[in-house]
Order: sequence, then C-alpha cells, then structure tokens
Amino acid sequence: MNWDSKFAARTAHMKRSTVREILKLTARPEVISFAGGLPAPELFPVDRIREATDTVLAERGREALQYSTTEGMRELREWIARRMSGDHLQIHPDNILIVSGSQQALDLVARVLIDEGDRIVVENPTYVGMLQCWRPYNLNFSAIPTDADGMQVEEIPAVLRSAPHKLMYSIPTFQNPMGITLSHERRLRLAEILVEHGIPFYEDDPYSALRYSGDDLPNILTCEAQARGSKTLDGSVIYAGTFSKTLTPGLRVGWVAAAAPLIDKLVQAKQAQDLHTGTLTQLITYEMVRDGVFLDQHIQTLRATYRRRRDLMLRMLEENFPEEVTWTKPDGGLFLMITLPESMDASELLKVATTRDVAFVPGDGFYTGEDGHNTFRLNYSNAREDRIEEGIRRLGVVLKEAMAQRA
Ligand SMILES: Cc1ncc(COP(=O)(O)O)c(C=O)c1O
Repeated sequence: MNWDSKFAARTAHMKRSTVREILKLTARPEVISFAGGLPAPELFPVDRIREATDTVLAERGREALQYSTTEGMRELREWIARRMSGDHLQIHPDNILIVSGSQQALDLVARVLIDEGDRIVVENPTYVGMLQCWRPYNLNFSAIPTDADGMQVEEIPAVLRSAPHKLMYSIPTFQNPMGITLSHERRLRLAEILVEHGIPFYEDDPYSALRYSGDDLPNILTCEAQARGSKTLDGSVIYAGTFSKTLTPGLRVGWVAAAAPLIDKLVQAKQAQDLHTGTLTQLITYEMVRDGVFLDQHIQTLRATYRRRRDLMLRMLEENFPEEVTWTKPDGGLFLMITLPESMDASELLKVATTRDVAFVPGDGFYTGEDGHNTFRLNYSNAREDRIEEGIRRLGVVLKEAMAQRA
C-alpha cells in the first residue's frame, strides 16, 4: 500500500517535532543534553506517589478503575478552582475542565475555535508543541516580537486592526523557549487590549510555580477580569495549567480554566477525543495535592534545585562563551535562549556539538517564519551540576572554534 497517496491534505502541515528527534540522537548516556524540556527525574516524588496510589486503591479502588465524567473529578476541580481564586477573581469548579496534560488543551481549543486559514496572534519565538498542534489548520500567524520583558504588547493593536484575528496565544511567564516573562505593566496593557477587542487569549502557563527570583505576577486571567471590572470568570482568557512540572509529566493531568460556554464546548470535543482523563491518575493527583502541604513543600524543593542549576548555567555561560554571544536571564522555568552572531547557524553548530557529546535545540523551529537560525535553547533543569559545568565548557570550546574558523 502506498500510504503517502492516502493521507488527508492537512497532514502536509504535520511533521515530527525537531526537539523529539534531537532527543533520540542524544539518548546515549555519555551525551550531555540540554535539549529536552524535561524536569529532573531524581526529584520526582516516587515514594509519595506510591503512598497516594496505595491509599486511592485501598479507599476508592473501584471508582479509580471505572470510567468517569469528561469534565474531570469533582474534588480535583474544586481544589484547582480554590487554589486559583483570589481577591480579584473567584473561580467556580464549573469553569474547570481536567485534561490529559495541558497539551490536550491546545488540541481541544483548536478543534472548537479554529477554522482553516484563520489568523492567530502569537509571540515569536513560541512553543513548538503549539505550532505542531495548530499548523495543520493552515493558519496565518501574526508574529509579535519579544524582548526581555516578554511580548511587545504595544505592537498588538495595529495587528488586530489590520485584519480580523481568531485567537491570541502566549506563555506569559517563564516562556518556552526563551525563559522571559511578560512585565506587570505589559500584562495590564494586554488586559486592556483584550477587553477592547474581545479576542480570545490562550494563556499557556506550565511554569509559573517555578520562580527562582523576582516577585510573583498576576496571571492574564486575573488581569483581564480586573480590566472588565468583574470578579467572575466570564471573559476572553483561556488559561491552561498542568501538574507536569510541579508533580510529574507521567501522570498526564492538566486543566483548563475558562468561561462556562467555552468549557461546555471543550467537553464536547474531549468526549469525542478520549472520553475523559485517566480516573486513576486524577485520583492520585488529588490525593497528593489535597492538603496543599506536600505540594508546596515539593515546589520549594524544585525551586531550590532549579535555582542552583540556573545560577550555575548562567555563571558557566559568562565564563565560557565568547563575548559576541548573548543569552536571556530567566527568573524561573526550565529554559534560556542563546543568540549567536547573525552569520552563524545553530543547526550547523549542533552537528559539531554532538560529535563532542553535548546537545541543545536549534532555535529556528520555535519561530513562526524563517527567523532564529542563529539562536538555540538550553534546558537547565534536567542536568546535574557537574554535567552543566562540563557541558557548557564543551559548548564554549565548540563555539570558539566555530568563531575562529569564521574569522
Ligand atoms: C508551553 C508549554 N505548553 C504546554 C506543554 C505541555 O505540557 P503537559 O502536556 O505535560 O501539561 C509544555 C510542555 O513542555 C509547554 O512547554
């Protein structure tokens, strides 16, 4: 059978994630890889998960192994609604939908909001998993440039006025791939723009719990409600959260917080897709987070380790990378991004780096257009300290050699 002749037209826009392909190349244990977006496996709360699983199976075994509702487990949705509510925004459990990892939320939102050929506003560079998920809709991306304070929000009104747009997408806090964060001032301005234009805004927020420096900022969900003068969740922001980075990605439990009519449509899409998120993993997640104590302690542990790794990577970059190279300085999350001189190509550099057993992800795949050839992303959460030291040293040598050749 010639399968190529059978595939649907939209598959022309599908391709394998370059990050996942690079991860395959770097699977050899001797390779120091800064390529993945992986949490540190040595910090996974294995014992606590075992205990929680035992408790769930002993106390609610039959429920845990049965089909359940598409919306998700009621107590977990109540817990999330309470945790996300504050003085400025009261969230009801009916505003919460449990999803199978927040990646599923991207797919569900596309299914219910996006038509073929729609225009979407995104920050550039952006999350490659969103591009992979939404590109099959043959979209027109309006790319908003970024700087150290996040997306350049002041550029958005002109873009929105130039043509009708369906949706905006952003990772305002500790962005993937750059590690940058939208400043408070820009959050407030963005909220005003959203209210003025009434455009849906997808706030992808897997990383905000992982802050290592600076002050917490309100999410866009809250800023937009304040801009509307409302304390209820009935505006245009679609918030996606996850337990992947605070507990473990293996559970595949995330959530969407949004206005009830949208949640209702997403439930219909999810029903068709996977009926519901795993009952067992939802119950285990709830068992682990219900008193808040374990989760908060665990987040402190993650923060302490990742802060050390971030600081070490920044110091090693300072000591080992040539002057012409610059990088972002994240306050949290898992990544930072390197910019090489314009004439250099990060994919070429990766070929040399892998021969020295060190790897990263070239930045071009994170851009909506043709930019980013001279950028690459480094992950600092997954490598132990000695590997960060050795890996950045090796990369420094590769870079200096490449620059000497260029000269
Ligand atoms: C920006 C962003 N969104 C969504 C996800 C998906 O996370 P999960 O499906 O594990 O919740 C990731 C994972 O790395 C991410 O970086």
